Amino acid sequence: MKNKLFFPILSLLFCFLVSACTPKEKGIRKGNYRITDQGIVFDEPQRVEGQKSVLQLAVDPIENVRIGFIGLGMRGPDAVDRMTHIDGVTVVALCDIEPDRVEKVQTDIIEAKGLPRAAAYAGSREAWKELCERDDIDLVYICTDWKTHVPMAVYAMQHGKHVAVEVPAATSLEECWQLVDVAEQTQRHCMMLENCCYDFFELTALNMAQQGLFGELIHGEGAYIHNLEPYWHEYYDNWRLEFNQDHSGDVYPTHGLGPLCQAFDIHRGDRMKSLVSMSTPSYNGKKIAKEMMDTEEFANGDMTTTMIQTEKGKTLLIEHDVYTYRPYNRLFQLTGTEGFANKYPVSGFTVQEDKLPEGFLPEGHKPLNPHDFVPADVRDSMMKEYLHPIAKEIEAKAKEVGGHGGMDFIMDYRLIYCLHNGLPLDEDVYDAAEWSCLGELTAASIAEGGMPVVMPDFTRGDWDKVKGFHHAVK
Ligand SMILES: NC(=O)c1ccc[n+]([C@@H]2O[C@H](COP(=O)([O-])OP(=O)(O)OC[C@H]3O[C@@H](n4cnc5c(N)ncnc54)[C@H](O)[C@@H]3O)[C@@H](O)[C@H]2O)c1
Repeated sequence: MKNKLFFPILSLLFCFLVSACTPKEKGIRKGNYRITDQGIVFDEPQRVEGQKSVLQLAVDPIENVRIGFIGLGMRGPDAVDRMTHIDGVTVVALCDIEPDRVEKVQTDIIEAKGLPRAAAYAGSREAWKELCERDDIDLVYICTDWKTHVPMAVYAMQHGKHVAVEVPAATSLEECWQLVDVAEQTQRHCMMLENCCYDFFELTALNMAQQGLFGELIHGEGAYIHNLEPYWHEYYDNWRLEFNQDHSGDVYPTHGLGPLCQAFDIHRGDRMKSLVSMSTPSYNGKKIAKEMMDTEEFANGDMTTTMIQTEKGKTLLIEHDVYTYRPYNRLFQLTGTEGFANKYPVSGFTVQEDKLPEGFLPEGHKPLNPHDFVPADVRDSMMKEYLHPIAKEIEAKAKEVGGHGGMDFIMDYRLIYCLHNGLPLDEDVYDAAEWSCLGELTAASIAEGGMPVVMPDFTRGDWDKVKGFHHAVK
């Protein structure tokens, strides 16, 4: 009897010892995240040996920036055109699946300006790899659909190129980490082209905030509200509607979030720590899907609202709605302890008189009302007085070349200026990851009934090393 029990008891004891000694994962695992007491916690990969931070990355100055463009649909050709207005830039190569799109840019932009024809890559979904493999390109500029951004950016960096990639840079958390890891492994720049950071109002309000006009910033709001009904048919192979059909959450968060993160010094003294997100059901999205894809299935809710809290306890509200009948609204709002800025639907500021320079207000003016915007003439003078130095420098040319009123040009100009002068870029790979990761994080929060999500720290602990966001200047 004794002998019979010896081995079962021994094996039970062994199992108990093994399980007691194995570190237990906290919470309930669901795919790539766990549900814990703090809410949803996604897996965060370790930095591998030999890989180092690209915070404030500066590379040798590049006198003439040689660019290869991939993706020449609605967005790409304007980017090619804008770059031809900047000195010290050469358009070396152009790529699109469709040969006629490449040829149109060659004739309408490159040849029309008397520039040498660029090398052309077209006719397949893989032709862009040959462009990345060239040894006479410094920067690969990507304007394709969302799902192709990361494979292209990664391949380009691994072939020694810097990368500029349209918004959102990545579509999943795994892709965000991939961008960060490859940028760190290759020590290449990877900038997401968040043009809204360069609009005149956003830049001016940022300058005001940095000069203390609003006191301490405590809350920000941003949005992308744009009824895309007239455009759904225009996207190549229906990529955008297909993506939204497949994904819930804020799939296009960066226009609202980018300018706020700069104003709130995200990973430059503060960091986004957690978020909660909620979404309505799909009503209009479903209708479009029925019409265009003959399906009633549609994951993306019509209106998605997300609240983010930062390490310092400040709050950001982000909205996404590309379906409903309402005016275009790319909300950008800053609330400070002593002032306020708002763009869309009404742009204006609320400030305290003693924050303005002496003699700024006209003689005999009415006292500024603390619960109203400053009068329109004061707002207009403030827009001039506080115009950001980087916008001042290039304002006239930006308005002439255009691109959403000039902001796209300022963005490209700044990218090239930093590369010419060997300076850190305004938007680094951590911004690209932090702003893009909202897609998967908001979807998880929504799926778990609005549960908080712990936001990953893509800088892996370095978020407080740089003190305050600044545009690098020579
Ligand atoms: N920042 C902004 O204000 C802004 C505005 C519009 C679009 N965008 C972004 O720009 C990107 C492109 O949008 P769009 O409106 O031009 O879309 P689009 O569908 O008009 O164009 C995409 C182009 O990419 C090409 N393409 C796709 N896969 C390719 C591949 N494997 N190789 C080569 N070419 C490929 C397609 O042929 C097409 O010409 C998206 O990321 C979008 O979010 C940003």
